[in-house]
Amino acid sequence: MSDQDHKIPRTVPIQSATFSNPINAEIRRAAATGIYDIRGGGAKRRVPHFDDLLFLGASVSRYPLEGYRERCDTSVTLGTRFAKNPIKLDIPITIAGMSFGALSAQAKEALGRGASAAGTSTTTGDGGMTPEERGHSSKLVYQYLPSRYGMNPDDLRKADAIEIVVGQGAKPGGGGMLLGQKISDRVAEMRTLPKGIDQRSACRHPDWTGPDDLEIKILELREITGWRVPIYVKVGGTRPYFDTALAVKAGADVVVLDGMQGGTAATQDVFIEHVGLPTLACIRPAVRALQDLGLHREVQLVVSGGIRTGADVAKALALGADAVAIGTAALVALGDNDPKWEAEYQKLGTTTGAYDDWHEGLDPAGITTQDPELAKRLDPVEGGRRLRNYLKVMTLEAQTIARACGHNHLHNLEPEDLCALTMEAAAMAQVPLAGTDWYPGKPGSGY
Ligand SMILES: Cc1cc2nc3c(=O)[nH]c(=O)nc-3n(C[C@H](O)[C@H](O)[C@H](O)COP(=O)(O)O)c2cc1C
Repeated sequence: MSDQDHKIPRTVPIQSATFSNPINAEIRRAAATGIYDIRGGGAKRRVPHFDDLLFLGASVSRYPLEGYRERCDTSVTLGTRFAKNPIKLDIPITIAGMSFGALSAQAKEALGRGASAAGTSTTTGDGGMTPEERGHSSKLVYQYLPSRYGMNPDDLRKADAIEIVVGQGAKPGGGGMLLGQKISDRVAEMRTLPKGIDQRSACRHPDWTGPDDLEIKILELREITGWRVPIYVKVGGTRPYFDTALAVKAGADVVVLDGMQGGTAATQDVFIEHVGLPTLACIRPAVRALQDLGLHREVQLVVSGGIRTGADVAKALALGADAVAIGTAALVALGDNDPKWEAEYQKLGTTTGAYDDWHEGLDPAGITTQDPELAKRLDPVEGGRRLRNYLKVMTLEAQTIARACGHNHLHNLEPEDLCALTMEAAAMAQVPLAGTDWYPGKPGSGY
């Protein structure tokens, strides 16, 4: 190298990977405002996910089923352990709990319509049960939350199942937020709180400090409902083995496990991105807990957090879940983040696909709002039809995969049908890295 070469000026400015433009923008925003960023949705950064798994399909050692002639069943029954009336669903995809308050009454109705038409259940949320939702949901799960907002013993008795919410994947250990803009007269009345004032939901139940209290609460709810309906326990993905085991020991019929990609109506961005386990990492430990207790398939496992396609459904079931729940994807099916609202997203300083200020109540699609004019934009009948179609497509996709793997029921999918594209996914899902018979931590592998 000559002396001359050393003098060549650098021509390509290099951006820092650590201090990237989005990070610097957030530092400037924080410096200007002094407040932390709140948003809706789930983790946006890439973490190991179902996309990192592939199905192997049938070959010489297994034969596939014929799509047009051979059946591949999709039904699932939730709550077979203690409830007199377990919930029988036609498909293993349920609609997750989303609050009235976060969502408009029209959106709740559309979710009920779509879920019922597809033969599955929907779920209430913080803020209670609306008559529209109950009326249009053939199977409605009623959430019993730390905040107790909208909690009503009469509604408990109207439910087809009860879900005790301990935590959510987007914010395990944290509570919800509903800003004053969204506290309309109706929302305020249902929550017995003042109109227009920011509401924070509690991060833990007021009357318990541990698993023994959970057991007492489950018994209390069973007595109120005459042991008729299943009791689910929902936890955010943090310590899935122990949380599943403790929920089961406390008497749960169903465990709902929500990973860190799971959506929320509103919480701090730092919480969404930095607390909790990826959904993929939650499933095998939870299944192992159920197997260790001899209750896998008797206590059902519902997995949520970032489920978007029939392939995601099939992968979650293959890893041992009995069903999945969807939140964000259902809202997208209804019309959330639709490009037809791009001009309005731009006025809000965002763009299609990135709109997540659901707490502000200004949703152009009329879904995450209490503004009557915006809410009118969502036709619950059309929304329900779109959701039904989407659920149907996801089910058909999962069936296509199951048949290709030689299975006549979605529940016959198994870890042996899968391989992983990355070491991380192999370790988390405990399935072999593609082209090998090895995954990190495999018993006997020396690691
Ligand atoms: C708008 C919105 C509102 C939500 N409200 C609640 C709620 O009231 N109670 C609850 O347990 N979870 C709530 N969640 C979380 C969902 O029940 C579910 O765990 C999550 O959306 C699943 O992840 P996904 O959105 O990637 O499908 C909410 C999620 C969204 C997107």
